[in-house]
Parts: sequence; C-alpha cells; structure tokens
Amino acid sequence: MNIVVVVMVGVGLWGVIGGAEAEESPCYFIFGDSLADSGNNNQLESYAKANYLPYGIDFPLGPTGRFSNGNTYVDVVAQLLGLNGYIQAFSRASYRDIFYGVNYASAGAGIRDETGKHLGDHTSFRGQVRNHLRTVSYMLNILRDENRTAVYLNRCIYSFGLGSEDYLNNYFLPQLYPSSSQYTPEQYANFLIQQYAQFLQVLYNYGARKMVLFGVAPIGCSPYALAQNSPDGTTCVEGINSPIEIFNNGLRSLVDELNTQLADARFIYVNVSGIFQNIISNPLALGFRVINSGCCRVGWNYIIQYTCVPLQLPCSNRTEVLFWDAYHFSEAANTIIGGRAYNAASTSDAYPFDINRLTQI
Ligand SMILES: *[C@@H]1O[C@H](CO)[C@@H](O)[C@H](O)[C@H]1NC(C)=O
Ligand SMILES: *[C@@H]1O[C@H](CO)[C@@H](O)[C@H](O)[C@H]1NC(C)=O
Ligand SMILES: *[C@@H]1O[C@H](CO)[C@@H](O)[C@H](O)[C@H]1NC(C)=O
Repeated sequence: MNIVVVVMVGVGLWGVIGGAEAEESPCYFIFGDSLADSGNNNQLESYAKANYLPYGIDFPLGPTGRFSNGNTYVDVVAQLLGLNGYIQAFSRASYRDIFYGVNYASAGAGIRDETGKHLGDHTSFRGQVRNHLRTVSYMLNILRDENRTAVYLNRCIYSFGLGSEDYLNNYFLPQLYPSSSQYTPEQYANFLIQQYAQFLQVLYNYGARKMVLFGVAPIGCSPYALAQNSPDGTTCVEGINSPIEIFNNGLRSLVDELNTQLADARFIYVNVSGIFQNIISNPLALGFRVINSGCCRVGWNYIIQYTCVPLQLPCSNRTEVLFWDAYHFSEAANTIIGGRAYNAASTSDAYPFDINRLTQI
C-alpha cells in the first residue's frame, strides 16, 4: 500500500467516488493464483514470477508479472466492467486505486496455506482475505462512515480463481506433499470447499455481496501434463482432470448453498472447464491452431518446468495458441474465458447467470 498518495486524497477522491457511484459495479476485487496475478509476487522471494520477457510481450506495459503474453482473464473482466483500465495489484495500490478495486492474486497461492510452499513466498487465499480487510479499513478511514463504506463495498464484484494450485502444486506432487496419501479425491475436494466457504463468509461479513467463483481449468489438458502423462501427447490426462471435476462440482454446489444461506448476496459459478472443453472440441472455430503446446520456450526455470525460459523468442502466431507457456493461457484464451464469464455464450458457461447480470442486481 502506497502511503505517499494520502496527501492527494482530500483533493481528488470525492470526484472518484462520485463518478463511480453512477456505475453499476464501481469496483472489482480479485482473489486468485498465477492465472490472475498482476505483479504481487514481483517483490517476493519466489520462483513463481513472470516479470520478465517474453511474458507481457503483447501487454501495453510489457512484463508486469502477468503469466500471459497479454491480458489475464481478470483483466478482460475488468475491461468489460467498464472500470478505469486495469485493477491495481495490492502491492502497488494507492488510496485512490482501492475505490476501483484491488488485485490480491499471487502466483502459487492455494486455498490451503501449505500449497505451493516449495515455490517460495506468496500470498495464500487466507493472506489475500487478510489484505482485503486492510483495504476495507483504509476505505473506512477515508469515508469515515461505516454505512457509506458498506454500501460502496456491497456493489463491487469479487472474483475468485483458486484451487488450481492445490492440485498442481500440492495433490499431484506426492514427492513434496502428503495430501494424496491422506485424502481421497472426494475428501480433498470437500476439504478445500469447506475452507473456501469460510473465507467467503469472512468477506461477506466485510461487505462482499456479488461473488464470482471461477472453476479450475482442466490442468490435465495443459501442455505440461500432456508432455508428462498423456499416452499419445494429445489426450488429456484423466487422472488429473477427474479429481478437479469433483472440486468443480463441489464449487457449483457451494454456490447453491450460499445463495440460500446468505440471501442478500449473490454467488455465481463460472464453468471454466466447460468453456475449455468447448474450445478444444472445435478449436479452429475460435481461431486456435495450436492447443497442445505453449508458445514460449519452456524448460527448467529454477525449480519450475512449465513457465517460459527468460528472453527466448516466442512463436510468432500468438493469437492462434491456446496456451502461452506449458500451463498458463494465452491472451487469446483469456479473452474467451473472461468474455464468456461476463457474457455467457451458453447457459452452461455461468451458473445461475453471468457477471453482466450480477452487476445489474
Ligand atoms: C447505519 O445504518 C444503521 C441501520 O440502517 C443505522 O441504525 C445507523 O444509525 C447508521 N449509522 C450511521 C453512522 O449513519
Ligand atoms: C460445464 O459445461 C459443460 C460443457 O458445456 C457441461 O457439460 C457441464 O454440465 C457444465 N458443468 C457445470 C457444473 O455446470
Ligand atoms: C504456430 O505456432 C506453432 C508453435 O510455434 C507452430 O507449431 C505452428 O506451425 C504455427 N502455425 C502457423 C499456422 O503458423
């Protein structure tokens, strides 16, 4: 949090808030992992970073820490929400920025605190929730009125993209994490969902009312999984995807449960795996020529094997690839995922409805 900006607050902030009050959802708070990180890990002692080329090669500001050639899915959602450009990373957010929302996402972050520990520092879901409580108290200090702060926070969109790391960098790494010998896939998914629900309840207590839960993508179809475990290099790895689908089904059930329990809040589930299946069942229809290898060169990058090797020239047809590195999506894919979360292209994309509708209630 940038303290220096506080002197400007008195002068300009009422303008920001006044303008934003006209919007349906004036702010967007983002919780997530590397698929949504916009630079929170840059200053941390971590192997999970993307603040070097070729990451960001198509991003207006170059490499920022985003794990993509350009926009992430949350950048796409932020643009569709009509917010003022990009949502600032928590590590760089000023007092003025927080009224548009904050991006707390951190590469390596899981629902479980232990997830991704071997990659170094990051801010887990728990830490991201804690950071949000700090944001709320900064906001309260500025607005000096609990009701006004609550009314403002009620109208924001809150999105969550967590769970991938609890599989990739926990459950499916038995050499480093014991979870797969302790829990069946059903038990593990239930355990994650319970923890997830507790964090959502805390955020609800701090004014969150419009929450978007992004499901986990079928990691078993990533170039990394294909190279390691696919029998033919193109068939998705079921042993990875089916435990993840159990989690996704649990997340969708959680949405039903919370919509009943917390009747003045609305939760929606984004069917990322459905959107993904939809893309790969007819990739050319959506302009994808390459779906099972990444665009940048990957290899051992310290202890990670699925991120881009620094400073290597990526493929030239970047708009035609589904994956940017061996695990993270290209901007082209993120445009479709974020776009369909916002404006569902079919009823199975978002449940019970899409973000566009969520902003209007
Ligand atoms: C906040 O709202 C509550 C309930 O509507 C009301 O009782 C209370 O007086 C309000 N507080 C302030 C500081 O306006
Ligand atoms: C997700 O989408 C797929 C494919 O469109 C569909 O078969 C599936 O039922 C959807 N899943 C959920 C949980 O909505
Ligand atoms: C696009 O890039 C991929 C990966 O570099 C390459 O294998 C493929 O041949 C390219 N396709 C076209 C149509 O240029």
